[in-house]
Amino acid sequence: MDNRPIGVFDSGLGGLTVLKEIMELIPTESVVYFGDCGRAPYGTKSKEMVIKYTFQDIRFLLNQDIKMMVIACNTMSACSLELVQHDFNIPVIEVIQPGSRCAVRETRNKRVGVIGTSATVNSGIYEKTIKKIDDSIEVYSQACPLFVNLAEEGWWDNDIAERITEEYLTPLKKEKIDTLVLGCTHYPLLSKVIQKVMGDDVKLVSSALEVAKVVKEVGQKDKMNRDESLSPVYRYYTSDSVEKFEALGGSILGKSIHSAGKVEIDKF
Ligand code: DGL
Repeated sequence: MDNRPIGVFDSGLGGLTVLKEIMELIPTESVVYFGDCGRAPYGTKSKEMVIKYTFQDIRFLLNQDIKMMVIACNTMSACSLELVQHDFNIPVIEVIQPGSRCAVRETRNKRVGVIGTSATVNSGIYEKTIKKIDDSIEVYSQACPLFVNLAEEGWWDNDIAERITEEYLTPLKKEKIDTLVLGCTHYPLLSKVIQKVMGDDVKLVSSALEVAKVVKEVGQKDKMNRDESLSPVYRYYTSDSVEKFEALGGSILGKSIHSAGKVEIDKF
């Protein structure tokens, strides 16, 4: 048994889509969440910069005495996965493997689309990971950099979101994909408009639930579950406006967020 919290982090609010699934699947676990909203988006930055930010975020979370770390961000997972998997003595969970496995399970015509930030798409990580599982699958990728800004603004389902989505996704529609990986944790917030543009025949894969399942499995395997008689404690931190984080974050989680803390992340 281990009553310490799980650390979950992202460049901003997108990781809350992962946290939501974790809270639903393992409601007895405590969590510390950090969203680096002040420096988002990460996905348009260089790999070196993303790695630097990732390690600052990790150092902050390690100061919170966590028992497990969830990189709830595809961009950070894509840029620094090999580095973070050897460096810490707690389990580190990322989002790319679980999402890829789910896409391979779902596709029928073996034509899979992947959308993500420029950094994630340029890394080619999804294509490599999916093809490693099943080499006969064709993968078509598209960077959608403006989606993160739409998500962080709360513009999840308006005319502007729809127009931008059409512009980005029309090339993928032409490839006749039957499965689309939302390869950025911000994108499930836009899933209504993405589904509308792609049509109902295309299955959207969000890694959030798959990641939550991995967190549960690792906790059970390593015997680090929290005492179920205790209530969970959720703590939230951001590097930008606490008020905006609490308001938008609360609507993502479907429950209110109080007393979020402000972090000077550059100091870590
Ligand atoms: N939510 C992040 C991801 O999954 C990154 C968004 C960004 O900061 O660009 O890639």
